[in-house]
Amino acid sequence: MNDLMYMKRAIALAKLATAHTWPNPLVGAVVVKHNTIIGEGYHHKAGEPHAEVHALQAAGEEAKGATLYVTLEPCAHYGKTPPCADRIIASGISRVVIGSTDPNPLVGGQGIIRLQAAGIEVKTGVCEKECALLNESFFTYIQTGKPFVTLKSAMSLDGSIATFTGASQWITNETARKHAHLLRASYDAMVVGIGTILADDPLLNCRLSGSEVYDAIIGDTLDGAYSMDIRQPDVMIFDSLGRTPIEAKVFTVPNRKVHLFVSAQCSEEKRQAFIDIGADVHDIERKPNGLSIKQALTVMGDMGYTSLLIEGGSALLSAFVETLAFDKIVTYIGNLIIGGTEATPAVGGNGFATLEAAAKLTFTDVHMMDNNIVIEAYRTGREGAYVYGHR
Ligand SMILES: NC(=O)c1ccc[n+]([C@@H]2O[C@H](COP(=O)([O-])OP(=O)(O)OC[C@H]3O[C@@H](n4cnc5c(N)ncnc54)[C@H](OP(=O)(O)O)[C@@H]3O)[C@@H](O)[C@H]2O)c1
Ligand SMILES: [Zn+2]
Repeated sequence: MNDLMYMKRAIALAKLATAHTWPNPLVGAVVVKHNTIIGEGYHHKAGEPHAEVHALQAAGEEAKGATLYVTLEPCAHYGKTPPCADRIIASGISRVVIGSTDPNPLVGGQGIIRLQAAGIEVKTGVCEKECALLNESFFTYIQTGKPFVTLKSAMSLDGSIATFTGASQWITNETARKHAHLLRASYDAMVVGIGTILADDPLLNCRLSGSEVYDAIIGDTLDGAYSMDIRQPDVMIFDSLGRTPIEAKVFTVPNRKVHLFVSAQCSEEKRQAFIDIGADVHDIERKPNGLSIKQALTVMGDMGYTSLLIEGGSALLSAFVETLAFDKIVTYIGNLIIGGTEATPAVGGNGFATLEAAAKLTFTDVHMMDNNIVIEAYRTGREGAYVYGHR
């Protein structure tokens, strides 16, 4: 019972760094002795100490003979910091309770082996599903080298994201839109097509405060003892010719990076203009249907992005759907019917010719948001999924 309670606290601690740790995972740790928490912590940012180190430092000498709860198997290899397994052994901890094991094929299981070899009692699989969900993007990233991709759209009941005149604001209600902003707060970056930039000139930022995000994802688990900062997700624009206007609103949000994915057809002047306003430009092969999704994902993975929220529009979503290059889908359905064969469908492109070829989904959640609906699903058969208890 207590194992569950302390692991849940470690999970809540891990969430405090939501979207701040990439390319590293979210990890929380709690040190407990005689049923009292004597130290706790979480991994704040890549390059900074791991969760276990923060928790053990807070516990100090008292860590001797105590139990350490940690949401992810402690590392056993030298990265930017020395291995946590060694630090745990040196601290005199006598028992370690682990949420999810490390899915990294090169290092998974090594932390557990090292702790056990030092005579430490190790228990695994406590809140494993919750701990794995916490890092669903990192687990995909570490196994495939590419970011975890979530497709997001806000559509009418009949699957349109804009009317035949192009009107799209707003198809969903305020509650659904607020939820979509919460989604933004938990992704490393957002992706849009140039069509959406030209049609809507969106800001593409998260318009929630740190305390609103804290209330939604931490609630009262940590007794309000902590706070959260919003990290504005970076933005990636698929724009072969470099048509994004320099004065577009997307460039006005401080403290975030904008990446332009362009083809060889983008002129030198345009590239330089993007660089001059602080954006990054990446060259991607242009195929008949647009820039290569596969190559773009590899470039994003190489930059360390572990999770992407694809915000649209219709053409870009279709590119991710037709190449089966997505892991999850979050669909908001507004309480209206748009109709019309000229309306913009949520997923455009050519579509699949047969039902056999169509992208298959596993629904995991559906709920009402006032008079709107949100549906969550995963792509059936996706790569890099964490299978509980197996590597
Ligand atoms: N309700 C919602 O959730 C929502 C969200 C977003 C947008 N929208 C609406 O969607 C509409 C815009 O959608 P859209 O389909 O016209 O534009 P889009 O998907 O935003 O952008 C499409 C453009 O992106 C570029 N691109 C580059 N690589 C691509 C690839 N591999 N696949 C597809 N496109 C690629 C292409 O232009 P180049 O050839 O020049 O590169 C293409 O024309 C607007 O009306 C907007 O309001 C609605
Ligand atoms: Zn570590």
